[in-house]
Amino acid sequence: MRVGIIGSGMVGQTLAADLVRLGHAVVTGTRGPGKLEAFVAEHSGVRAASNAEAAAFGEMVLLATNWEGTREALDLAGPGNLNGKVVVDITNPLDFSTGRPALALSWNTSAGEQVQGWIPGARVVKALNTVTADAMLKPREFTGGEPDMFIAGNDAAAKGEVTQLLESVGWGVVDLGDITMSRLIEPLALIWITHGFNLGWTKRNHAFKLLNR
Ligand SMILES: NC(=O)c1ccc[n+]([C@@H]2O[C@H](COP(=O)([O-])OP(=O)(O)OC[C@H]3O[C@@H](n4cnc5c(N)ncnc54)[C@H](OP(=O)(O)O)[C@@H]3O)[C@@H](O)[C@H]2O)c1
Repeated sequence: MRVGIIGSGMVGQTLAADLVRLGHAVVTGTRGPGKLEAFVAEHSGVRAASNAEAAAFGEMVLLATNWEGTREALDLAGPGNLNGKVVVDITNPLDFSTGRPALALSWNTSAGEQVQGWIPGARVVKALNTVTADAMLKPREFTGGEPDMFIAGNDAAAKGEVTQLLESVGWGVVDLGDITMSRLIEPLALIWITHGFNLGWTKRNHAFKLLNR
């Protein structure tokens, strides 16, 4: 599959490397392709380009931007380049101003809903935001059985495509409903982050699993 990634931080780079390893073609979008020279040299198969080129390239587009820069990144990507496409929203709307991570918005809205509103022609699926970057496509490394990834989105077919990708690497997938369910999934990320902080932020080896009996 051709995957465009918007955002070239820890998440964008880790996903690019893992997707190429899995056999996908990747264009990573960034405001400064030059800064990815060393990364691209080390990961053949990844190309660095503008956000607009990444958005136009991807059959599926992964949104991996700092929350505060997300709207600007999507404007640079060009909402028209995302029309009809599955856009996986990995962002967490975090606020670190008090020294402890908190959500910058919650309860009555969510990043997932705002993203869908900014790119109304795209089919946004909230996913992958409740685990650390280097585990997003390596869930089989967790002990204790198959972990679960919670997803939400308005388009059933889009969620089906994301589910297929997630299940192919080893996630169980729990579909919570439409994109407003991002209001529940984003606080779940805060539980993940807070537990990591409480452990000193060195151990980030946890993930969620919904148990049944
Ligand atoms: N780190 C994790 O393990 C993890 C896990 C789950 C979810 N998340 C979420 O995933 C997202 C990405 O995480 P990260 O750690 O990779 O973030 P990051 O390094 O802070 O930022 C990612 C990218 O956002 C882009 N960006 C920032 N400000 C921008 C602006 N004003 N305009 C356009 N683009 C802008 C930058 O892309 P360019 O400079 O290349 O243009 C930057 O590389 C965040 O929302 C985070 O909360 C992270």
